[in-house]
Amino acid sequence: MKTNTLIACLVLVVLCSSPGNGQLSSTFYDKMCPKALSIVKAAVKQAVAKENRMGASLLRLHFHDCFVNGCDGSILLDDSANFTGEKTAGSNNNSVRGFDVIDTIKTQLEAACIGIVSCADILATAARDSVVQLGGPTWRVQLGRRDSRSASLSGANSQIPAFTSSLSALTSSFSNKGLSTNDMIALSGAHTIGQGRCTTFRTHVYNETNINSAFATSVKANCPSTGGDNNLSPLDVQSSTVFDNQYYINLKSQKGLLHSNQELFNGGSADSQVTTYSTNRNTFFTDFAAAMVNMGNISPLTGTNAGEVRKNCRKPN
Ligand code: HEM
Ligand SMILES: *[C@@H]1O[C@H](CO)[C@@H](O)[C@H](O)[C@H]1NC(C)=O
Ligand SMILES: *[C@@H]1O[C@H](CO)[C@@H](O)[C@H](O)[C@H]1NC(C)=O
Ligand SMILES: *[C@@H]1O[C@H](CO)[C@@H](O)[C@H](O)[C@H]1NC(C)=O
Repeated sequence: MKTNTLIACLVLVVLCSSPGNGQLSSTFYDKMCPKALSIVKAAVKQAVAKENRMGASLLRLHFHDCFVNGCDGSILLDDSANFTGEKTAGSNNNSVRGFDVIDTIKTQLEAACIGIVSCADILATAARDSVVQLGGPTWRVQLGRRDSRSASLSGANSQIPAFTSSLSALTSSFSNKGLSTNDMIALSGAHTIGQGRCTTFRTHVYNETNINSAFATSVKANCPSTGGDNNLSPLDVQSSTVFDNQYYINLKSQKGLLHSNQELFNGGSADSQVTTYSTNRNTFFTDFAAAMVNMGNISPLTGTNAGEVRKNCRKPN
C-alpha cells in the first residue's frame, strides 16, 4: 500500500470511528442529515401550537426514556411477541403521551435521510424544543445516541421515581443515574408545565397537612375522594403552559400538586435550593439546561456495534 493511501485510510478510520467512541456530539447530524434539527423543531412547534400540553408530554417522554437503561428510545417500543414494553409500567400507563408526534417526526426524518436519526435523539431534541417553545431556556442537545432493540417493563417499574417518594428516595433515584441532588431539584422544575391525574395527587390533597388549604379545596373540586382517577389538574396551578420558575414559588406556599413535589420544600435539605430558584429564574434556567444535558448523557448506546437506528420508533428493525 502506498504511503498516501495508508494515510487516507488512517484519516478515514479516525473520521468514521469518531461517532463510535462513546461520546455524544452536538454536531453529530450536521453532515449526515443537515436538516435534522430544523425538522424536529418545526414539528414540535406545530404540535405545541395545536396543543400546549404536548410540550410537557414530550419533555416527560425523554425523562422516562433516560431513566430506564439510558436514553435509548426504549419507551417508544410497543409490546411485541419478544418482550413487553414500558408503556404499561406504573408511571407510564394511561399517563405518558406524545407517541404520535414522535412518529410524525420520524416519518419526516426518514423522508429526508433514511436510517440516520435515532428515536432516542428525536426524544432529546424534542424535549429541548418543547421547553424553548413554552418560554424556557435553550441548550445544545448532544446527539449520536442509538436505539435499543428491546425495552424493560421491570426497569420502568423500578427506576422511574414515584409520586409517593420522599426527598431521600428522590435523591437516591437520581443518584442511581449519576445525577446530583441539585440536578434532581432543577429537573423537577419541569413540573412548571403539564398536568397530573387525580390518582397521582389524591392522597396529598386529602390526607396530607403540608398543603395550602385553599389550594387543596380548589384541587378537590375536580378530584373526588373516590372516582375521577383520570381527571387532570395543572402541576403548576399558576401557569402550566409557560416554562418559568413558578413551580418553586408554588412550593414555597405549599401549593405543590404532588406529594413528591412538596417534599422539595418541607423543612429539609432541598429548601434552600427551592428558595433560590423561586427568586431567581435565570439561575433555575441555567441549572435546568445543564441538568438536561446531564440527564441526556445517561448510558447512551453509541458506535456501530451497540443498538441500531430504528426505522419505526415503535419496533426494532
Ligand atoms: C423527581 C421525580 C419525579 C416524579 C416523582 C414525577 C412524577 C410525575 C407525575 C406523577 C406526573 C403526573 C403523571 C400522571 O398524571 O399520570 C408527572 C408529570 C410530568 N412530569 Fe414528572 N416526575 C418527576 C420528575 C420529572 C422530570 C425530571 C421531568 C422532566 C425533566 C418531568 C416532567 C414531567 C412533565 C412535563 C409532566 C407533565 C406531562 C403531561 O402533561 O403530559 N418530571 N410527573
Ligand atoms: C423476535 O425476535 C426474533 C429474533 O430476534 C425476530 O426474528 C422476530 O422478528 C422478533 N419478533 C418481533 C415481533 O419483533
Ligand atoms: C393499564 O391501563 C389499562 C386501562 O386503564 C388497564 O386496563 C390495564 O390493566 C393497565 N395495565 C397495567 C399493567 O396496569
Ligand atoms: C386518607 O386516610 C384514611 C385513613 O388512613 C384512609 O382511609 C383514606 O383512604 C385516605 N384517603 C386518601 C384519598 O388517601
